[in-house]
Amino acid sequence: MDKILTIDGPSASGKGSLTRAIAIALNFNVLDSGLLYRAYAYFYEKGVTTDHIGKKIQGLSFRFNSGDVQVFDGIEEITSLLRSENTAKAASALSSQKETRKNLLNIQRSFYNGNGLVADGRDMGTVVFPNARLKIFLTASSEVRAKRRHIELQNRGQEVNMRDLIEDIEERDLRDRTRTLSPLIPAEDSIVIDSSSMSLDEVLSFTKKLAKKEFDK
Ligand code: DC
Repeated sequence: MDKILTIDGPSASGKGSLTRAIAIALNFNVLDSGLLYRAYAYFYEKGVTTDHIGKKIQGLSFRFNSGDVQVFDGIEEITSLLRSENTAKAASALSSQKETRKNLLNIQRSFYNGNGLVADGRDMGTVVFPNARLKIFLTASSEVRAKRRHIELQNRGQEVNMRDLIEDIEERDLRDRTRTLSPLIPAEDSIVIDSSSMSLDEVLSFTKKLAKKEFDK
């Protein structure tokens, strides 16, 4: 079994915040796989051919800044572009294609170097790291997730209508859950956490207890 904690779940379920906080607590590295899918969509929209996108993604630099990741394409910071709802939609559409998932599979696996890793995504526990030692599936109602995403986007200076946001989230969930390849489903050996009425601190302390039991053996 690999020294990996996978955190899968739908968008805005709090995976990102939990991933960063638990990675700091465990001193593990982080893989934000959604960001790789977003980068894939970013290059695709720029007209880069699909057989070159992998190389382009490997050329990006990821800088950690006060708990958040900043992404640079050369000297251009593209973090806000990648985090926008437009890029999320394009990433969701592209992520159902076999070629996209194949191109990103080894890039994702390369984030594990034998030291601890927290991998955040949709299929981390089912497809990318089936041998992970601990698997969490984090979810929450679509209203709660839309509220969280609204606050996140506002903090990034982006204004989005709440009703549009709920619709976007539900549409994307449905697409992610019903696609043939790597559908968004909990791994059989995962622990499901519904965070609709839990704070990040509550989710974090629950996950810490599980991780302590699993990784302190
Ligand atoms: O987690 P996110 O919102 O940043 O992900 C953006 C899109 O990428 C999401 O709609 C589905 C896709 N994705 C995926 O298919 N598999 C992953 N492991 C991560 C993301």
